[in-house]
Amino acid sequence: MSNTPARIPCTLFPGDGIGPEITDATLRVLDALGAPFDWHEQTAGAGAAEKLGDPLPDAAIEDIRQTRLALKGPLTTPVGSGYRSVNVRLREAFQLYANVRPGRSLLPDCKFHDVHLILVRENLGGFYVGVEHFIPIGDDPHAVAEATGILTRENCRRIAEFTFEYALKHGRRKVTVVHKANILKSLTGLFLETVQDVGRAYEGRVLLEDRIVDNCAMQLVINPAQFDMILTTNMFGDILSDEVAGLIGGLGLAPAANIGKDAAIFEAVHGSAPDIAGQDKANPTALMLSAALMLEHCDLHEAGGRMRNAILATIGNPATRTGDLGGPLGTRAFADAVIAQL
Ligand code: NAI
Repeated sequence: MSNTPARIPCTLFPGDGIGPEITDATLRVLDALGAPFDWHEQTAGAGAAEKLGDPLPDAAIEDIRQTRLALKGPLTTPVGSGYRSVNVRLREAFQLYANVRPGRSLLPDCKFHDVHLILVRENLGGFYVGVEHFIPIGDDPHAVAEATGILTRENCRRIAEFTFEYALKHGRRKVTVVHKANILKSLTGLFLETVQDVGRAYEGRVLLEDRIVDNCAMQLVINPAQFDMILTTNMFGDILSDEVAGLIGGLGLAPAANIGKDAAIFEAVHGSAPDIAGQDKANPTALMLSAALMLEHCDLHEAGGRMRNAILATIGNPATRTGDLGGPLGTRAFADAVIAQL
């Protein structure tokens, strides 16, 4: 019998902006590691809109339906008008209800040494459902704007159960549910109420506390180590995870996993960074760490651990960091340095 690991088909989106550069860097590390992925490359986002006239081609959806696994570079979404976010559409299409965003101090000289939290963001509901419109008055077509947030008890229950089970599986002791139930009494009130209800079944095993989002944002910059797991709604999770990335050294270091029952998509927290695209400046760490999460998701724990350790050793040395962390290396040279650490 051969010891060669089974090949794993995986959809790959190089993405927009810095996407192709950080994807190339990540694939080189995965290749050097001997990761058993068979890549199915697809396009989506601004690149696909330009080339194919569709930011989310059917072929991309169909491919994920088959592989049930994707590694995705960032995709550009036009601001204010234009097509709806492809990221949001992918999460909806595959019911990727849990967005898991680990935030951990990785740099020995970082301002906060003791951040080691997992932020779980409800990934399908809230204000991201796209139910919004303008109401024209007189000759002003944008006189009034309305947006509706939608959450169902079932979705709140599903993300709460996911979070408590994650806590048990990964030895986490405390979940902080973050809401704005003093103002958005129905939308985030339902979230809080349901999480508390689910939390009762975990009493004595996982501690549950709650914070209003503005207080949580402030507490994060004063004493982030107090948080173990944060569970929050879609928009608060989007904002707070960028804040957490800032605490640990920046967006270049923050990975993410979008998990559903039938598929999982791994991507960096950051966007397509058009300001530095095509300049060999981007830090590929966040996508590399997302790939390490993907290896672990595929039960390749040894390979995931090796990849993460090589990344940590590389960014631990100021001489082998990218420019966003004050180092001298470009994207490609950083990948070489990680490969040398494997
Ligand atoms: P962004 O995350 O792309 O960039 C914010 C700032 O962080 C920029 O100054 C950028 O240069 C820097 N930065 C981001 N990633 C970096 C990296 N790996 N290395 C070094 N510096 C890095 O956010 P922005 O500018 O608000 O969004 C740009 C586009 O990305 C938008 O179209 C947005 O919709 C999209 N986006 C896509 C996401 C996804 O695909 N999951 C997530 C967030 C935004």
